[in-house]
Amino acid sequence: MATPQRYTGLIARYRDRLPVSESTRLISLGEGNTPLIQLQNIPRLIGVDVDIYVKFEGLNPTGSFKDRGMTMAVTKAVEAGSQAIICASTGNTSAAAAAYAVRAGIKAFVLIPAGKIALGKLAQTLMYGAQIIQIDGNFDAGMALVKQVAEHAPVTIVNSINPFRLEGQKTAAFEIVDELGVAPDYHCLPVGNAGNITAYWKGYSEYAAASDRHAAVIDKRPVMCGYQASGAAPFVLGKMVDNPETVATAIRIGHPQSWDLAWKVQQESGGWFDSLTDAQILTAQKLLSTHEGIFCEPASAASLAGLFKDLGTGKIPVGSRVVCTLTGNGIKDPDIAIAQCQDAKPVTIEASLDAVKQAILDAL
Ligand code: F0G
Repeated sequence: MATPQRYTGLIARYRDRLPVSESTRLISLGEGNTPLIQLQNIPRLIGVDVDIYVKFEGLNPTGSFKDRGMTMAVTKAVEAGSQAIICASTGNTSAAAAAYAVRAGIKAFVLIPAGKIALGKLAQTLMYGAQIIQIDGNFDAGMALVKQVAEHAPVTIVNSINPFRLEGQKTAAFEIVDELGVAPDYHCLPVGNAGNITAYWKGYSEYAAASDRHAAVIDKRPVMCGYQASGAAPFVLGKMVDNPETVATAIRIGHPQSWDLAWKVQQESGGWFDSLTDAQILTAQKLLSTHEGIFCEPASAASLAGLFKDLGTGKIPVGSRVVCTLTGNGIKDPDIAIAQCQDAKPVTIEASLDAVKQAILDAL
């Protein structure tokens, strides 16, 4: 007899706060429960009294926060009898959709901008066996097509316009409050479609209002700070961008899908949107890897780069407790990583004890 299925993912953990029933078949890969890592070296380096935590979402099963939304979206799609899912993607959503579709035994179609997704994300999506449809256009064009085609073909959209995606993603806020015992003062996030910032706010708000939680945490919610790349910054410009450009391909988005919801988050939380140059984003990415041992993908580092920009300026006061979400794993984008490390070329020597010893002595 087969052993009964054991579930360890976020739906199992937060079942009572998610739209599933006892009989729902969970499509899970053990996602969530990612580490909240307190930075040790960077605060000392910048010489500012600040308590920084990073929520390392790159340690989810497919290497990004998308798994949180995808476990819910695919669980609900399967529950509704869907045989196929579809998404447009800058890479991470496609990898997650592909993996969870395999797990569920259904088909995944993914529309990606040709030549504009990071190598690791392409490799993953290929390995999971999704039907990849490359388009000669950007994410926004792909998203528009996905919305249209879903009206003409039996496919469930699993982009963040699917409300179950946000339900799954809100659990990251639950985990943070459960771990810290209280919500942080500020929460910094990279923003593309703005689904994730919306989901975190939903999570913090639901937890703050939950009657079964300790009174001390009621009402405490963070100020939400959303950061975009300056070449793809519709929220900073206050209008859609037709030709978004940034090295952080994950957030190369000019027409965000959660436009109204994100403005509501900004207003309700007293937060803001700001933008960063590609150089600022890459500097933060490298600082995290070289000073803390944490390797995130470029888009993810926008959260920390944003904190650096706003810390001590009156926006984020010294002494604050801040959480930065690192949305994806650095291994996903090897090209950018290697390009960033041209000055750290490996030394090539002969395979002898003397040569290795000499190489070590030279470097000490
Ligand atoms: N960070 C990473 C690593 C992402 O992949 C994305 C979005 C975001 C941040 C932005 O999140 O859209 O909720 O504001 N990636 C989508 C994708 C668009 O297709 O993988 P958002």
